[in-house]
Amino acid sequence: MSLEVPESEREQCLWLAERAAEVLASVPVRAGDVVLDFGCGGGNYALPAARLVGGEGVVYALDCDAERMAPVRAAEVPGLHAIVADGDTAIPLDDGSCDVALVYDVLQKLDDGEGLLREAHRVLRFGGVLSIYPMHLDPAEVRAMVEAAGFRFRDDFAGLVMHFIRE
Ligand SMILES: C[S@@+](CC[C@H](N)C(=O)[O-])C[C@H]1O[C@@H](n2cnc3c(N)ncnc32)[C@H](O)[C@@H]1O
Repeated sequence: MSLEVPESEREQCLWLAERAAEVLASVPVRAGDVVLDFGCGGGNYALPAARLVGGEGVVYALDCDAERMAPVRAAEVPGLHAIVADGDTAIPLDDGSCDVALVYDVLQKLDDGEGLLREAHRVLRFGGVLSIYPMHLDPAEVRAMVEAAGFRFRDDFAGLVMHFIRE
């Protein structure tokens, strides 16, 4: 089935958020997974991801804007941990502790995108998935940067969200 993707970036962003369940299934996020959502915002993806991982899994929803992430902080979903970060790219999680890292519509906001990719590589286990939605950036440049950080491109969702394997 071919997907009718809107043309403008703004509409693409909304279109993806409306299909969060499909996006997460394509990653995939599964029951029991440990998931990091870096720059989770209001939880467009963190909230459905927490329902998918279920009682055995964990979602770390991290953002530097406590107000913006209020819906995540208020959500009473077991296994959903809100982390209010300081705006740095450091991730307060152990090495190899995550199965999946979501980096959606946030890379363009970082001064040190490479630093975040190094951190994503550190916290993901070998074979884990880094899923990136590179809004406002050249996807080919982002792909090259992610591959240089030790990830292998696997596939994409609707030509918008890229999935990489942590090597
Ligand atoms: C455009 S929103 C995207 C939210 C969500 N990922 C989505 O796709 O719906 C970008 C989010 O990244 C957060 N952000 C920006 N820089 C950050 C940083 N250094 N550390 C953590 N969060 C950051 C912002 O506060 C904002 O909530």
